[in-house]
Amino acid sequence: MISTALEEYLTAARVRQLLELDELLRFPSISTDPAHAEDVAATAAWLADHMRAVGLENVRIIPTRRHPLVYGDWLHAGADQPTLLIYGHYDVQPVDPLGQWHSAPFAPEVREGKLYARGAADDKGQTFIHLKAVEALLATEGALPVNVKFILEGEEEIGSGSLLEFVPRETDLLAADAGLVSDSHILSPEQPSLLYGLRGMWAGEVTVTGPATDLHSGSYGGVIHNPNQALAELLAALHDEDGRITVPGFYADVRPLDEAERAALAQVPYGEAEILSESGAPALWGESEYIPVERTGARPTLEINGMWGGYTGDGFKTVIPSRAGAKISCRLVPDQDPEDIGRKLTDYLQALAPSTVTVDVRAIHTGQWFITTLDAPALQAAAAAYEQVFGRAPVYTREGGGIPVVALFQQALDIPMVLMGFGLPDDNLHAPNEKLDVGNFYRGIATSIVFMQELAAPAEGGDRS
Ligand code: BES
Ligand code: MN
Ligand code: MN
Repeated sequence: MISTALEEYLTAARVRQLLELDELLRFPSISTDPAHAEDVAATAAWLADHMRAVGLENVRIIPTRRHPLVYGDWLHAGADQPTLLIYGHYDVQPVDPLGQWHSAPFAPEVREGKLYARGAADDKGQTFIHLKAVEALLATEGALPVNVKFILEGEEEIGSGSLLEFVPRETDLLAADAGLVSDSHILSPEQPSLLYGLRGMWAGEVTVTGPATDLHSGSYGGVIHNPNQALAELLAALHDEDGRITVPGFYADVRPLDEAERAALAQVPYGEAEILSESGAPALWGESEYIPVERTGARPTLEINGMWGGYTGDGFKTVIPSRAGAKISCRLVPDQDPEDIGRKLTDYLQALAPSTVTVDVRAIHTGQWFITTLDAPALQAAAAAYEQVFGRAPVYTREGGGIPVVALFQQALDIPMVLMGFGLPDDNLHAPNEKLDVGNFYRGIATSIVFMQELAAPAEGGDRS
């Protein structure tokens, strides 16, 4: 319950808290671009200072081979209270195509109740929500209801390499009774949702090489297999006309959906109409025997994320390129193994390759899928918090995106993971005009507070962890 003192504090703090988030969003912490490495480091430093300022202790920046981790805790709730591990990422995706932004990506702007900036929803804004919840509780009550540890990373958007190495080594530092991640979205402010699954992934690059050098297409067209064409033929062979992936054995380890889960997912109020209006696409595509939430959350996919080859600049160039390539990612579900899928895809592409070209496949990164049961008390605490603040109980759903470290926290620390998003489906993640609903920012802070209160053991000494 939000006490009167807390409510007054939060009301008085609204403008300041939004301005502080504005400051955090000004750092261009693009993790994939080496030119921004110092900006990523500066973001970590700003966060560490901010964590100290809100009253967290043992705050430190942990250097890694790439971008730093930031840790901080507050452990004075007592040994009979559970410890909550809060994870978030402060790195962001690149901003291109820059011309499509209505305001500069690192100059945050509020328009019609939405804060526009790269990282507003993914994930600086959502991470900041929990720092503001801690601030409000410590400022008004001098204590948190539970023990809290924060671990923030700057490599999520590039596969979480450093944190995936760190977690198994530092299980004592990170030991907790439950984990909390806000790096996803709810269906709408009227209908919150809790995630019980995330997809895993295999991502890589395929290169098709034909002639040793680019050739005049007049002189050689008709005798040389154009690598652009060979690539298109290979990529087109990866799906059949029903949208199923043709890679042999691709579906072998997919855990079938049982009738109870299918019935539950069928109740999620998110389907064709919502997807069409959010995306602006003229029609849906994909495996028609599954409904959209199943196709984005519980079925594996193979996507072509980029293709290159030949001349794509202004005007025209009659050329047969020496090489063509594509970026491919597969979204994976229980019980698929990313390495195994990478091998199957590589073998299939090699087997399909005509003798006129050579095909090379290179893995870039992988991520584990995540799935959890709904009965953990921490999940019930999250549901109660959403219900109190948003006025409606959440629905349970599975998400198509991935957060590589979530499955590892669950396994290595043996804790239930709560995926409590405050974004919205149309927040434009990874795209121009990323935004965070300002109302959700404030509701998020309240929900985080109530969640910690609900997670706390009752005075009699029951166990809610
Ligand atoms: N926050 C997203 C994942 C996400 C998106 C969760 C939408 C729920 C709803 C995360 O930052 C992300 O973009 N993950 C990457 C994984 C990565 C290894 C590049 C992804 O899913 O593409
Ligand atoms: Mn994210
Ligand atoms: Mn992301």
